[in-house]
Amino acid sequence: MRALAWHGKHDVRVDNVPDPGIVNPRDCVIKVTSTAICGSDLHLYDGVIPTMQAGDVLGHEFMGEVVEVGPKSTLTKGQRVVVPFTIACGGCYHCNKHQYSCCPNGLPADNQDIARTGFGQEMSGLFGYSHMTGGYQGGQAEYVRVPFSDVGPIVVPDGVDDDEVLFLSDILPTGWQAAEYAQIEPGDTVAVWGCGPVGLFAVQSAFLMGAERVIAIDHYPHRLDLAARFGAERLNFKETDVYDALMQMTGGIGPDAVIDCVGLESHGVAFDNIVDRVKQATFLGTDRIHALRQAILACRKGGRVSMPAVYGGFVDKFPLGAFMEKGLTLKTGQTHVQHYMPALLNAIMEKKIDTTFMISHRMPLEQAPEGYRMFSEEQDRVTKIVLKPGLAA
Ligand SMILES: NC(=O)c1ccc[n+]([C@@H]2O[C@H](COP(=O)([O-])OP(=O)(O)OC[C@H]3O[C@@H](n4cnc5c(N)ncnc54)[C@H](O)[C@@H]3O)[C@@H](O)[C@H]2O)c1
Ligand SMILES: [Zn+2]
Ligand SMILES: [Zn+2]
Repeated sequence: MRALAWHGKHDVRVDNVPDPGIVNPRDCVIKVTSTAICGSDLHLYDGVIPTMQAGDVLGHEFMGEVVEVGPKSTLTKGQRVVVPFTIACGGCYHCNKHQYSCCPNGLPADNQDIARTGFGQEMSGLFGYSHMTGGYQGGQAEYVRVPFSDVGPIVVPDGVDDDEVLFLSDILPTGWQAAEYAQIEPGDTVAVWGCGPVGLFAVQSAFLMGAERVIAIDHYPHRLDLAARFGAERLNFKETDVYDALMQMTGGIGPDAVIDCVGLESHGVAFDNIVDRVKQATFLGTDRIHALRQAILACRKGGRVSMPAVYGGFVDKFPLGAFMEKGLTLKTGQTHVQHYMPALLNAIMEKKIDTTFMISHRMPLEQAPEGYRMFSEEQDRVTKIVLKPGLAA
């Protein structure tokens, strides 16, 4: 089959690779009909996530048609499903608490030790996201094997277009969980750093959860305009000092909750970010946390910090003093996608959530390398790319 494989920094190619098949009784194989490129994939593309190997198939946001089932799968051939990016068993201590992205059982035994040195414990299994998360082949491919297919995939009703439900695989639940973790109360002001797909869904979710004001921060005017569609106020960090503006907009108090939807590759020319950038480039540091620092400093005393953004290592210049002295709380983590999927599917069916507005490009799988380049270099114009393996070039 054809699949998009990682070969190194800024080097991804559509290769011929072996077809996947059933390995375990609970597996299924799906024929991918739609798969998206995520901001998380850019961290792989930029070579800042360790334990990637040449030939790894990328992609963790995908959906398709069931074409093969193991004897213990609850799916049947021909069903259309959306697959969560987190691989969870559904029966362990964590899964019973609906903390699916903490499930250790998706990780093959060979990969269990990789993350322990850095994180103290193993990670959960994720599709197409390095060997630290299981080395699973991803869904930017014609076919993909889905473990625990009796737990993860959600069946899509007939007549619903792929584009409407594809984002249930990751970014919609991620934006929703981010807003939930911000513990929004009616009347709150919420500031969101980053207006990529995750930030845009966090903006939409924050309003649905009762925020009175949402302030969206980025430097791409088009992405800020998309946030404004939902009623967000815009702050362009290239034109405005974000901290000063937030203080002015909130009467010197600061936002009640701040949401970091940027992650370990923060942009901007601030001094701390330049130091982070040099350290990241020379492997002396792992993450550029400028946006998170700014969010913590701007948050009101006693406020909440929600951090869906991905970070990978040990950071310095973390404003721990401010965090403690201001009495902040932080909630973060990979999204517990399985927990949110059913309710969010209903919200899509009832037209309470708009999912398709952010798709800027639909491309055949064969053009995925160009898609990665565009998503990386032209973010103002390119907000979300959906790859369609069946689409003619
Ligand atoms: N927790 C999870 O389960 C989960 C799931 C999906 C994505 N993520 C992470 O969420 C983050 C966002 O994902 P995305 O797909 O929206 O990515 P993206 O790259 O499309 O968007 C990031 C946005 O942040 C903006 N930005 C950069 N520096 C900034 C700064 N200093 N201040 C304000 N904005 C800034 C960029 O201009 C860009 O628009 C990534 O780190 C991704 O890995 C986490
Ligand atoms: Zn994703
Ligand atoms: Zn589990």
